[in-house]
Amino acid sequence: MNKLIVGNWKMNGNVSLVDEFSQNLDERVILGIPSVFIAYTHFKNPDLQIAAQDCSVYPDFGAHTGEISAKMLAELGCKYVIVGHSERRRTSNFDTQQNIFAKLKNVVTCGMKAILCVDESYHKLIDIQTKEFLETNVDKIFIAYEPLSAIGTGNIPSLTDISETLSKIKQVYLGMKTLYGGSVNLSNAKEILAIDEVDGVLIGGASLKLDELNEIAKL
Ligand code: PGA
Repeated sequence: MNKLIVGNWKMNGNVSLVDEFSQNLDERVILGIPSVFIAYTHFKNPDLQIAAQDCSVYPDFGAHTGEISAKMLAELGCKYVIVGHSERRRTSNFDTQQNIFAKLKNVVTCGMKAILCVDESYHKLIDIQTKEFLETNVDKIFIAYEPLSAIGTGNIPSLTDISETLSKIKQVYLGMKTLYGGSVNLSNAKEILAIDEVDGVLIGGASLKLDELNEIAKL
């Protein structure tokens, strides 16, 4: 299967979990780990595909205390950056449309791929300049449809909803690869991955379980 399997640890994990994953994770999985573990993970296993969970709106270096730039993430071996996750849009109050645009640009400029998260109201979350940017960078960006009602709840929408929503996104952004995220686990991953429009999955809670994640990668 050549669909994308992306884990998102969120603010979870520790050094011993990183040790376990870096030795045993299926090489097809892209692992979204807290930024504090990225350098350590990369040096433990340079082949492991790492995603950052966010990046700064500032492009490279500067007097921006606490910020981590896309350029720094790329230097440490990150291949992907998650942008605009609903937990960041909600809690940081910082992922405005303008900032999402800046982050996407920074990720792509640094040679990484962006995973742009949107929810049910995706059409309201993407402004004109971001839309134009997405249209011209479809090969460098994935759009992950993550309904708020599905994140961390154990409830996934109907398979028809997933298929129709991703299909609408693909009609607007020709050639765009689309992911589904929200309560994906070993018991539902097979049917979700079987949907034509699903080019991959973004997995939160279940990505902390090594065996389960490896099983999903083998489906
Ligand atoms: P979940 O999270 O799999 O725990 O629902 C998914 C996500 O927030 O990306």
